[in-house]
Amino acid sequence: MKKTIFITGGAGFIGSHVVRRLVMRYPEYRVVNVDSLTYAGNLENNADIAQYPNYVFEKADITENTAVEALFDKYLPDGVIHLAAESHVDRSISNPLEFVMTNVIGTVNLLNAARRIWSNKWEGKRFHHVSTDEVYGALGKEGLFTEHTSYNPHSPYSASKAASDHFVKAYADTYGMPVVLTNCSNNYGPNQFPEKLIPLCIHNIINNKPLPIYGNGKYTRDWLYVKDHAAAIDLVFHKARNRETYNIGGFNEWQNINLVKELCRQMDLKLGRVAGTSEQLVTYVKDRPGHDLRYAIDATKIKEELGWNPSVTFEQGLALTIDWYLDNKEWLVNVTSGKYQQYYKEQYER
Ligand code: NAD
Ligand code: TYD
Repeated sequence: MKKTIFITGGAGFIGSHVVRRLVMRYPEYRVVNVDSLTYAGNLENNADIAQYPNYVFEKADITENTAVEALFDKYLPDGVIHLAAESHVDRSISNPLEFVMTNVIGTVNLLNAARRIWSNKWEGKRFHHVSTDEVYGALGKEGLFTEHTSYNPHSPYSASKAASDHFVKAYADTYGMPVVLTNCSNNYGPNQFPEKLIPLCIHNIINNKPLPIYGNGKYTRDWLYVKDHAAAIDLVFHKARNRETYNIGGFNEWQNINLVKELCRQMDLKLGRVAGTSEQLVTYVKDRPGHDLRYAIDATKIKEELGWNPSVTFEQGLALTIDWYLDNKEWLVNVTSGKYQQYYKEQYER
């Protein structure tokens, strides 16, 4: 084994795609998936690569310092790609402290453990922190987030991610730790937990349930297919200079209502429903408090410096995503039974 890489949050949505990519592309690496399996973590997401000889799963909670230290001692990783997080804005509004624990304390625990085992011998070592464009706050109708945009987070989620970004940068500045950061826009694709807009609507369209649109539906997000994010992470982890930050996005802005209408159109075709059927499920509901109007990424730096480009158009990515959910109904049933029902009631039926 040439290198041992920790991927935290590898049983979650984006993490599982990063794990799969690294396990398959780098047979010489030992890829250790460190995940506590919260409601969002699911070993079914890793089932297809679980038997690979270069893959290991370790169930551990990054907020537990002793467990984190023990794992670093056991494996002595050369690199960390850190995705474990509480990731849903609505949940952060109901329970901010959980976000501080995992996103801030958890990140600092990982930084400390890496710093201790690397003990100033930084050659060949790297801590890649995976973050979000939400740290920059909200845009008006014009403009794009660049790597130089000031941080101005609004939700407890984005505030906790911003804090974690600052800690990662502080460890580079203070201790010389070799870090890289990526700040990505909204992802969509297979394996996304149906609390986020796209899989929630796919699930509800399949089940003929209302499609809840917050406020006037004119909020705008920049959507990127998850496998293109995984490819960007692979590229930055291997090719970027230390201390660099890269914004990642799809140059693909949609107002929520238009996106949901497009989803309805494609789903009607795939489900053999009369055109316009699913759109009737659209229901405007109470707005999210502090709802950010618009996110949009300027991904010029990663394109020009590292040659990254999205591999699919939005129409292709959305079709692949819908097909995956239709082909994996059991996955959807499994993750929406039990606690999901309670969450859904509290979030949408109050
Ligand atoms: P997710 O919620 O699907 O998965 C998070 C994973 O982290 C789960 O497997 C969960 O079990 C694990 N986890 C949570 N708390 C943990 C803890 N205390 N210890 C160990 N593991 C824990 O999240 P995602 O959407 O895949 O996002 C992954 C990362 O990418 C996050 O850091 C998120 O901030 C960032 N990000 C997400 C998006 C997006 O659109 N989803 C966009 C940009 C950046
Ligand atoms: P989401 O998928 O939660 O991602 P984020 O809040 O991180 O951008 O939401 C995407 C957009 O969709 C956001 O503007 C909120 C909106 N939204 C709804 O209108 N209804 C919903 O049920 C959800 C979950 C989101």
